[in-house]
Amino acid sequence: MKYALAAAAAVALAACGGQSDDAPSGGTAPAGAAIQTAEAPPASPEDRGRRLFNECAICHTAKQGDPHRVGPNLFGIVGQEAGKQDGFAYSQALADSGLVWTEENLDAYIENPQGFIRGNRMAYAGQRDAERRADLIAYLKTLK
Ligand code: HEC
Repeated sequence: MKYALAAAAAVALAACGGQSDDAPSGGTAPAGAAIQTAEAPPASPEDRGRRLFNECAICHTAKQGDPHRVGPNLFGIVGQEAGKQDGFAYSQALADSGLVWTEENLDAYIENPQGFIRGNRMAYAGQRDAERRADLIAYLKTLK
């Protein structure tokens, strides 16, 4: 049995052109792995939003009870009154805005923070891509 396997291996090596000495071992495994990655299911809006949130996470935490950073914690933000969280020093502009964070208001704010609430302090240039804003808001809605 041992000899039969050795013979089979020798035939296989010969089929490769006899360059077995230089060939890296296990050379065929990565090709199989690449095929599996390519077949991953498409991401949901929430998943895409979670990835897009990386650029918000420089300033904002998203988990319940996490501390405010440069910006306030955003857990439960959808449906909340704007500028009202304890322990965060909001700008006068945001604190006095009288806004509720409906999806519509969030969309306008994320698109153009300064244009939507003049004088607020969120130093974010804005996300001009409507689909990406929708993905971000889908993710924000999961924070509850
Ligand atoms: C450079 C830091 C920074 C980045 C990046 C940033 N924010 Fe902010 N954000 C702030 C600050 C600061 C405030 C408070 C502004 C004020 O008081 O005027 C704020 C406020 C907010 C509020 C209002 C919170 C409340 O309690 O009323 C929301 C919603 C928000 N940000 C969402 C986002 C989202 C979504 C992103 C990413 C697309 C983002 N922010 C990116 C700094 C940032």
